[in-house]
Amino acid sequence: MGCGYGATMLQLLEVLPWSTITGVNLNSEQLAIAEQKVTASQHSQRAQLQLANFQAIPFQDESYDAAYALESACYGEGETKSKFISEAARLLRPGGKLVVIDGFKKHSQPLPGWMDRIHRRCLTAWDMTSLANIDGFAAALKLQGFTEIEVKDISWNILPTLIYVPVVVVKLLSAQLVRKEESRRQYLQALLLTLLLSPFKKHFGYFVVTCTKSNVEKKN
Ligand SMILES: C[S@@+](CC[C@H](N)C(=O)[O-])C[C@H]1O[C@@H](n2cnc3c(N)ncnc32)[C@H](O)[C@@H]1O
Repeated sequence: MGCGYGATMLQLLEVLPWSTITGVNLNSEQLAIAEQKVTASQHSQRAQLQLANFQAIPFQDESYDAAYALESACYGEGETKSKFISEAARLLRPGGKLVVIDGFKKHSQPLPGWMDRIHRRCLTAWDMTSLANIDGFAAALKLQGFTEIEVKDISWNILPTLIYVPVVVVKLLSAQLVRKEESRRQYLQALLLTLLLSPFKKHFGYFVVTCTKSNVEKKN
């Protein structure tokens, strides 16, 4: 759900040779590149790509065994990403698994003024409207009939990526200045603001959330 350029999808096709995977993305340009990558791979028979909003995917109810969203659920609407969650719940068979890996706020308290301003700029730079807080997200999963909800803070695991950010920034700037490549100002801003906020572990974290769609029918 939000497959980007298909990188994770291709890795999963490689390590799960029995699987068939459908990647869903709202961005047609990214999807076209994903399509090229998948076609060039040896896994094209097991892969499908679909242009769609992951909050309204044109597939039948209960047609998937598992779903994942890597750094994409954050783009869902609302504070708890409830439309994203309900769409995952609709598509999964009972007993199906959902895995979400993403940045979250750690609480719903107001942030200090200066941090809130940086946070808002950061969201704008990433084209996001809000970052869910992890407890609210887990509660929304429960409400939509997910069980066995496991939340793991893996913030320290992404430290090497954060250390790499300045290298990426220098590379992008030199490409712009030396090779006169197109300016990627907004992306640079997003990277630097994320780096700036990342030490504030009391407020922000990077999590992996796994859960199972209940076998018991949800009562309305
Ligand atoms: C940071 S990328 C995720 C990378 C990707 N998961 C991967 O494994 O490489 C976020 C992706 O979510 C997609 N996206 C954002 N909102 C979406 C939506 N409502 N429906 C479908 N895709 C969406 C964006 O187009 C982008 O490709």
